[in-house]
Amino acid sequence: MRGIILSGGSGTRLSPLTKITSKQLLPVYNKPMIYYPLNILVKAGIKEILIIVAPERAGDYLRLLGNGKDFGCKFTYEIQDKPSGLAEAFIIGENFIDNENVAMILGDNIFEDDFSEDLKSFKGGAKIFAKKVSDPERFGVVKFNEKMMAEKIVEKPKKYLSDYAVTGLYVYDSRVIEIAKNMKPSDRGELEITDVNNWYLEKNELEVAMVNGEWFDAGTFDSLLRAQNFAKEKMADKMLF
Ligand code: TTP
Repeated sequence: MRGIILSGGSGTRLSPLTKITSKQLLPVYNKPMIYYPLNILVKAGIKEILIIVAPERAGDYLRLLGNGKDFGCKFTYEIQDKPSGLAEAFIIGENFIDNENVAMILGDNIFEDDFSEDLKSFKGGAKIFAKKVSDPERFGVVKFNEKMMAEKIVEKPKKYLSDYAVTGLYVYDSRVIEIAKNMKPSDRGELEITDVNNWYLEKNELEVAMVNGEWFDAGTFDSLLRAQNFAKEKMADKMLF
């Protein structure tokens, strides 16, 4: 399985911190934010990792992470010219993914869980991870039926749909490349990962697992602060580096 860390974006909600560096390089307690998603992939045995970054930040990532040797990995870098949506990662990463399965994780997502078994046992189709949250309108949201089977996924629903947010770890087979290439941008001008997930859902090939431990999307000042405190108290012994 190949791994992608999507670490572009503009991080406007963390301005002015993000005027001089990338959000995903900001500290989360004693490590740069991107170390947390990187640990998730490496713990699952993924060694070939594509890091997608914004053009003006590429040098910072190279200085921090290099070619991956220090982490026992091989890192490849690609530039995303502008934040045109999460699903664009699979177009940018086409050659890198080749015909392999791929796990994509967002550079600002911090998970307590270890997903090694989920990633190692993945055979095909798609697998995503949901978590009950108090502010679902900020995320892609999954509606389950009474048997807890996913019924539909809606991106940032205006009307209440469910409390289950789709978190920033996604696993797909290599069909995801063609799916992304055939997508049209949404009204907000992005290639939506929710559309990818619904493609698999309609084919009955989407598995939605639950996140058991804590999960933070560290993209706002409050969530970043919570993530920092959590990292200090609970994450130290979960990190390989
Ligand atoms: P967001 O938090 O939605 O966007 P952002 O990081 O640009 O922040 P803000 O809304 O404050 O301006 O993105 C979630 C993650 O996905 C984050 O790690 C950045 C990444 N991302 C990309 O790399 N490319 C993209 O096109 C988008 C939309 C997000």
